[in-house]
Amino acid sequence: MDLTFFVWADTHYGYDQRPPGSDLRGRIIDQMNDLPGCPYPATIGGVVDEPSFVLLCGDAVDGEEGAGEHELAWFHYYTPRLRFEQLEVMGNHDQDLAYITYFRGRYGGLSHSFDRQGVHFICLNSRYDDAEYFGEEDLGFLSDDLSRITADTPVVLFVHCRLDRFTNGDEVTRILAAHPVLLVFAAHVHKPAVFQIEGMDCIDVGQCRDHPIDPAYGRNLYVARITDERITAVPWRWDLGDWERGQRWADPAVAARRFALDRAR
Ligand SMILES: [Fe+2]
Repeated sequence: MDLTFFVWADTHYGYDQRPPGSDLRGRIIDQMNDLPGCPYPATIGGVVDEPSFVLLCGDAVDGEEGAGEHELAWFHYYTPRLRFEQLEVMGNHDQDLAYITYFRGRYGGLSHSFDRQGVHFICLNSRYDDAEYFGEEDLGFLSDDLSRITADTPVVLFVHCRLDRFTNGDEVTRILAAHPVLLVFAAHVHKPAVFQIEGMDCIDVGQCRDHPIDPAYGRNLYVARITDERITAVPWRWDLGDWERGQRWADPAVAARRFALDRAR
C-alpha cells in the first residue's frame, strides 16, 4: 500500500470571495496541483506522490444568509480547477439548502464513505445547534457502515470538528473501538493540532479562509501518506508556499514536530 491524499478545510467559499488570480482558494488549489513531485521535508524524506483524492473537511461555503446559491456557484467554479478528485465532509457553515442539495445529490446523504487501496474512509456528518453533537442518523450511519467491512480493515475518519468537543463524541469512539483506526481528521477550530483520543491519532487541519481572527499558524493543509510501514501527515503552509518548518516560531524544530505526524504502523 502506498496511498497519498491531501486534506484542506474551512474554505468558506463566499467569504472575501475574489475572482481567479486573486482568490485565496484559487492560489491554494494551484499549490496543491503543483505538490506532486515536491520533496517532503528532509525529516520525512521522499517526494509527494499524486494524491488519490483531496478531502475538504467541512465549511466548504461561508453560509451567509441568502447567499447559498451564489456561494455554491463559487464552489463549483473553483473545485474543478483541482487536478484531483475532491470529496467533502459536512460542516456547520454548510447548512444552506443549496449546498445540502448538492451534497445529498452527490453522496445520497449527509454522511458517506469510500475505499482506496484497502483503507475505508468515512465522512461523518455532525450537528451544531446549541452544542456540538452527533444525531441518531449520524451514529446509525457509522454503525451500519462499519458493519459492512471486515474487522481488520483500516479506517480513516473525517469529521468537521474534533471528537472530544462533541457532547456525545464518546459514542463515536465506542463504535470505532472494534476497528483499526489509522487517523481521525477534523477542522472547525481553524487551528492545526496533532493529538490522540483513546489511542487514535487525530489531526486538526488549519483553515483556508484567512479572516483577521484566524491565527497565522492555521494557514495550512495536510499532505497525508499511508504505506504498509508508516503513516505521515505533514502540514503545508499555503501562506509561505512551503512546508511548516516552524518558520515563524521561536523554536522551529519543536514547532515542526508539533504539527506533523510520523508514525510507524
Ligand atoms: Fe470554519
